Amino acid sequence: MDYQKILENVLIKMTGFQELGNPASYIPELRKVDPFKFGVHLITKKNKNFGLGDSEEKFSIQSISKVLSLVMAYQLQDEDLWKRVGVEPSGTPFNSLIQLEYDQGIPRNPFINAGALVICDILVEHLKNPKDEFLNFVRKLSGNSELEYCARISESEKSVGYRNAALINLMKDLGNIHNDIDTVLDFYFNLCSIEMTCRELARTFLFLASYGLNPITKEKILSSSKAKRVNAIMQLCGFYDEAGEFSFKVGLPGKSGVGGGIVAILPNQYSIVVWSPGLNKKGNSSKGMKFLELFTSETESSIF
Ligand code: DON
Repeated sequence: MDYQKILENVLIKMTGFQELGNPASYIPELRKVDPFKFGVHLITKKNKNFGLGDSEEKFSIQSISKVLSLVMAYQLQDEDLWKRVGVEPSGTPFNSLIQLEYDQGIPRNPFINAGALVICDILVEHLKNPKDEFLNFVRKLSGNSELEYCARISESEKSVGYRNAALINLMKDLGNIHNDIDTVLDFYFNLCSIEMTCRELARTFLFLASYGLNPITKEKILSSSKAKRVNAIMQLCGFYDEAGEFSFKVGLPGKSGVGGGIVAILPNQYSIVVWSPGLNKKGNSSKGMKFLELFTSETESSIF
């Protein structure tokens, strides 16, 4: 398939699409990002690369990191993981508090903020230097050994992180956080602060399009059964209360972040990342979703 040509055609089809959305406003540093940035990168299992626009510019990957922390925790804990976090779509916004008390402090899934905080708690429990080890894991997957946490963004989020503090306090009270709250929150804000280009991020996720094997380095990251399960969670929970809409329109497992990035994978074929900072009302990239909808229609490639 001539992916470069297809990406360009889809971009032309996007011309009439006016719903730019607004960059996340609740994290001061994200508010400053130029809403007109737009990048796409697709990498195939055979390491063929295709890109468009601002695909080599770094952006804040935010919640997309939650997939990588889940993968690391899954490597360490196997199926015991699911005693502390569920695998059901939440149908609620990513930072909602309401469901958590009702569910006795067991978050519905690892991608809502509460679930991602539990995963961070598990990593803090298992790893000697969670921040260093997580960063090294992401560096290896991305092929960029110089990736760093972005202190400017993590500090900015920490300065307004009242909701995440509320979520973690509630879970501590209900017995599902085992470590010091500030240590876990600090780790969480840091992993959300990582900045990557579309190209780096697409490569990072390629192992999930390849049954858990990194096809570039030949390293087995997850068993194929675990990779299947992570993809299933992305399919059902990757877009919070818009997961149904994304499945309906795009038809691929994926994950969004409030930095405006979306990653999606087609098993055995490719990993694709779109970045456009303007978000819709559900906190997902508005143009990013539209681009992927047109792309999977044009290529007739979806898991359904
Ligand atoms: O905790 C937060 O609110 C952010 N660091 C991450 C939220 C996010 O990316 C939600 N995704 N669309």
